[in-house]
Amino acid sequence: MEINNRFLHACRREPVDATPVWFMRQAGRYMPEYRTIREKYSLLDICYHPELAAEVTMQPVRALGVDAAILFADILLPAIPLGVGLRFAKGEGPILEHPVRTMKNVEALNPVDAETDLGYVMEAIRILRGTMNGIPLIGFCGAPFTVASYLIEGGSSREFLKTKTMMYSDPQTWRALMEKLSSVLADYLVAQIRAGAQAVQIFDSWVGALSPQDYEKFVLPYSQKVLQAAEAEGVPVIHFGTNTTTLLPLMKRAGGDVIGLDWRIPLDDGWTLLGNDVAVQGNLDPITLFAPLPEIKTRVLDILRRANGRPGHIFNLGHGILQNTPVDNVKAVVDMVHEYSAVRAYVP
Ligand code: CP3
Repeated sequence: MEINNRFLHACRREPVDATPVWFMRQAGRYMPEYRTIREKYSLLDICYHPELAAEVTMQPVRALGVDAAILFADILLPAIPLGVGLRFAKGEGPILEHPVRTMKNVEALNPVDAETDLGYVMEAIRILRGTMNGIPLIGFCGAPFTVASYLIEGGSSREFLKTKTMMYSDPQTWRALMEKLSSVLADYLVAQIRAGAQAVQIFDSWVGALSPQDYEKFVLPYSQKVLQAAEAEGVPVIHFGTNTTTLLPLMKRAGGDVIGLDWRIPLDDGWTLLGNDVAVQGNLDPITLFAPLPEIKTRVLDILRRANGRPGHIFNLGHGILQNTPVDNVKAVVDMVHEYSAVRAYVP
């Protein structure tokens, strides 16, 4: 296979022959190949078996022709060695059996050694780097706020009531938890890079629940610690969140070579807010993929037009691919992005 460095070049704002494209959650239930494996193995079983995780990681690369692979894992895997009891319930999403709500709970969290306690993740990375020749591999972790929200709530949440109540009412416990999580997550990301991840993304999926003032005070220093640890390893770092229009300048201050944009802000406006000295990733609404092809094309061209060939754009969705997304439409977007960006067909 030919070496494809478009994605890594774009992360560094270097010129590319065509805009690179990959999708958050590009491996998963919308793909028949994934569902076949899931008939026999649970989500965690796939993660625990590095050869299965490697296979699932490669499924979208083969089926779609994307410019990067994202390691198949989950942002909640570090919760397992921390000792909070992670399981995935059918239809309910993740459940943490022992939520973290008091200083005693924080103190009871186990120390984590990423190399051994999450060794199966590193093994999947090593397998992939030995077999995928040419396609860059993205490692990832959750950002401290988003991971903390699962630990505190005990699962998914809409309002983040317990999380924000801890932040506002018991800042000492909040800070102790964030200190602990940011060092575990920084070590985990560094271990992934040393195992062979060529870029990393931190997912702060739910950080848009916060005001800029609270983000700056209660979250930024901890995200910064994780991002700086990864940056020191010399690979590109992508900093992603959703509902972040008012947080973008602070997210940039926290760090990252690439900042994720969701669809709630036009790509060019988001890039202007961030400034020219950073790359951007995004920002197609994932539900666009359920629309007819001509509508998809209009929206893909609109994003390319807003990026206007400026070095440093990585095409992606504004958030992860949804279940039941038609695979053919995902593949069509990959082809459109490559074809139209290469010949600047988006110029009106
Ligand atoms: O992007 C990829 O293809 C790599 C794999 C990946 C998974 N989870 C596998 C997974 C990645 C990058 C994640 C990140 C993740 N996990 C996030 C941040 C990303 C985002 O969308 O904001 C979050 C919030 C989680 C936590 C999590 N894991 C939830 C809330 C759920 C349940 C959601 C659901 O649809 O039921 C999971 C389960 C999970 N992780 C699945 C996959 C493919 C669901 C599919 C399955 O059960 O097989």
